[in-house]
Amino acid sequence: MAKGIFITGTDTGVGKTVVAGGLACALMREGFDVGVMKPVQTGCLETADGLLAPDTNFLINITDVRDNIDLITPYRFKEPLAPSVSAETEGREIDIERIITSYNLLTKIHDSIIVEGVGGILVPIWKDLLFIDLIKKLSIPIIIVARTGLGTINHTLLTARYAHDNGIEIIGIIFNHTDKKEDGIAERTNPDIIKRLCNIPILGILPFINNLNTEDVKSGNLCNIFSEKIDVKYIKSFLSV
Ligand SMILES: Nc1ncnc2c1ncn2[C@@H]1O[C@H](COP(=O)(O)OP(=O)(O)OP(=O)(O)O)[C@@H](O)[C@H]1O
Ligand SMILES: [Mg+2]
Repeated sequence: MAKGIFITGTDTGVGKTVVAGGLACALMREGFDVGVMKPVQTGCLETADGLLAPDTNFLINITDVRDNIDLITPYRFKEPLAPSVSAETEGREIDIERIITSYNLLTKIHDSIIVEGVGGILVPIWKDLLFIDLIKKLSIPIIIVARTGLGTINHTLLTARYAHDNGIEIIGIIFNHTDKKEDGIAERTNPDIIKRLCNIPILGILPFINNLNTEDVKSGNLCNIFSEKIDVKYIKSFLSV
């Protein structure tokens, strides 16, 4: 049984922060003491108080956790690039051991930790080290967040099969609507096709949610809708309390 769940995606902008926040919130409602982590945040905004990490901000806001920002997001960069590129561009280094130490400390404070990745599983963290290597080192299962529309069959199968072939435990796939567009044939048929082709549970389909915006730290009705549309009970069975 794991203490944490890693939220990865088929790409950047697919809804990892939304799913991480929704899941954290849903688990809290089930009585879990949940911590959050976004180990590396690029594209931070400069403020008078230092670098503001938007995803971290959203996750802190929705869970109301009080942990030190250096534990939740040990690495914050201004350049909106892959972590290794942002770090090199800003003349800094990323030490994966620091990320693991932060994660381990958070697991001592909380029942479970929801960790959000950056982009997808093959995004480089530092030099040759990729996010899939971090997932292996943390030894926690993943949830894959995927788009609903055209192109998602290929992206989702690539992510799922590569993760599976590398011994990563996959809890399942969450399809997420990042826009209001009405479903076409692709959106309606993709989940079943993907389920058939990779035999991984589909945990649910998250609709477009009004008044939800991670950048503006607005969560709309995410907590309720997540609990209603996603199989939280099944996800819970992967966590030890
Ligand atoms: N179900 C949804 N309803 C409404 N808006 C959504 C939904 N899912 C995502 N969005 C919006 O789409 C954008 C991308 O979502 P999000 O930030 O969760 O993606 P991400 O995968 O975490 O991106 P990144 O790779 O930058 O971390 C955000 O503006 C978010 O508010
Ligand atoms: Mg995000």
